[in-house]
Amino acid sequence: MSNATLQTLKNRRAIRSFDNKQIKSEDLNTILEAARYSPSARNGQPWHFTVIQNEDLLKAMNKDGKEGAIKTAPDFMREKMQADNFSFWHGAPTVIITSGSDENRFAAADCAIANYSMMLAAEALGLGSCWINSGLMLFEGSKGSVYKERLSIPSGYTPLYSVALGYINGDKPAAPERKTDVITYFK
Ligand SMILES: Cc1cc2nc3c(=O)[nH]c(=O)nc-3n(C[C@H](O)[C@H](O)[C@H](O)COP(=O)(O)O)c2cc1C
Repeated sequence: MSNATLQTLKNRRAIRSFDNKQIKSEDLNTILEAARYSPSARNGQPWHFTVIQNEDLLKAMNKDGKEGAIKTAPDFMREKMQADNFSFWHGAPTVIITSGSDENRFAAADCAIANYSMMLAAEALGLGSCWINSGLMLFEGSKGSVYKERLSIPSGYTPLYSVALGYINGDKPAAPERKTDVITYFK
């Protein structure tokens, strides 16, 4: 495949092991710009992005997220969460939370596209990314509203998705197998 965009789309993988090294601020800006230039219904742009690069804050979010997740997490997740070094965001040095406006009925779709745009931009820049929803159980726990405030999530916005970003540690994983029986043609 020679087209760079198509290569980016196909080569992006969910990365679950990151270097400690922080990403460059120009790369972060490019990633956020990709998000802001995503399409949205009626150009509503019903999103807000929270960039977290503070190690202590990420540690606290992981710790309190576990507490929030303990009730709602599926069994496989609860088991993983027991590990001392468990991190919802796989130890990534940068986490971006995409929050959607509660007033906009297309926010879920628009924010999902923006979250994915950041992952594609990361891939194009040679960075690793992983879409993370599990960590957002943090906002469902007893400290949910505390974190919404601590992270300055604007009122009327709900954290919907997040992305872990950083340099890839080790080899990029192989693509998980794709289903093939998912297309119907009428020609
Ligand atoms: C809505 C959504 C939620 C996800 N949540 C998590 C998550 O909480 N933790 C995680 O490690 N990966 C998560 N992923 C990543 C998927 O597991 C991954 O995209 C999938 O296994 C396919 O692998 P690929 O991205 O390498 O193609 C999520 C992906 C999506 C789209």
